[in-house]
Amino acid sequence: MPLLQHVMQLDLEKLALQHIVPSLLERGFFYLDNFLGDLVGQCVLDQVKEMHASGLLHDGQLAGRRTGVCRRHIRGDKIAWVSGVEKGCEAINFLLSLIDRLVILCVGRLGKHDIKERSKAMVACYPGNGTGYVKHVDNPNADGRCVTCIYYLNKNWNAKEHGGVLRIFPEGKSYIADVEPIFDRLLFFWSDRRNPHEVQPSYSTRYAITVWYFDAEERAEAKKKFRDLTASSQEPNLTA
Ligand code: OGA
Ligand code: MN
Repeated sequence: MPLLQHVMQLDLEKLALQHIVPSLLERGFFYLDNFLGDLVGQCVLDQVKEMHASGLLHDGQLAGRRTGVCRRHIRGDKIAWVSGVEKGCEAINFLLSLIDRLVILCVGRLGKHDIKERSKAMVACYPGNGTGYVKHVDNPNADGRCVTCIYYLNKNWNAKEHGGVLRIFPEGKSYIADVEPIFDRLLFFWSDRRNPHEVQPSYSTRYAITVWYFDAEERAEAKKKFRDLTASSQEPNLTA
């Protein structure tokens, strides 16, 4: 199929209204395959590989206090944050603009959530040395993140051999969901305590791009709290 024709045939509105919204509301997550098609997906993969090869990916950070536990035992990925306008990120930017269009179509239908902005994109690589990411919640403490969206980039992924499965443990449900990180797969899930998840140890290079969409009200509240905190810590200490 010629370049872009695949993408132009995507019915974003149908995808948003008939699939993403109902699945998020009922199950808390949703994924689809062949999102960009082979040619465009390959362009994104090439850009991510180029970033990796140029040494642009660095150790992912842990939230909260240092525990003395080796970082790699908790989270073994190498990451970079991109807005998409950087040189060499054109295909990534195109991906982001499509995901944005999808999410905008969902706005107003996601329960109490109103979404007006998102994070930068996190380009991530698990190098295949057996590291993963232990079970966690992306947003346990109301930092504003509401929907996690991950685009996977791994051709010929065989989970039995390569591991790297994203396992979701939906809160209060008796089932788990295993999502293999296969090429051109797009995943959405609630970022809060409804979806604890882990990345199982990965034995082959595993690439993904993640963005987080913010709940407008929770984000404003979180920013305000952070401002208050930093403001009070900057106050002169009169007892010193
Ligand atoms: C994360 C994460 C999942 C994945 O970075 O917070 O959970 O499948 N990633 O890469
Ligand atoms: Mn996560």
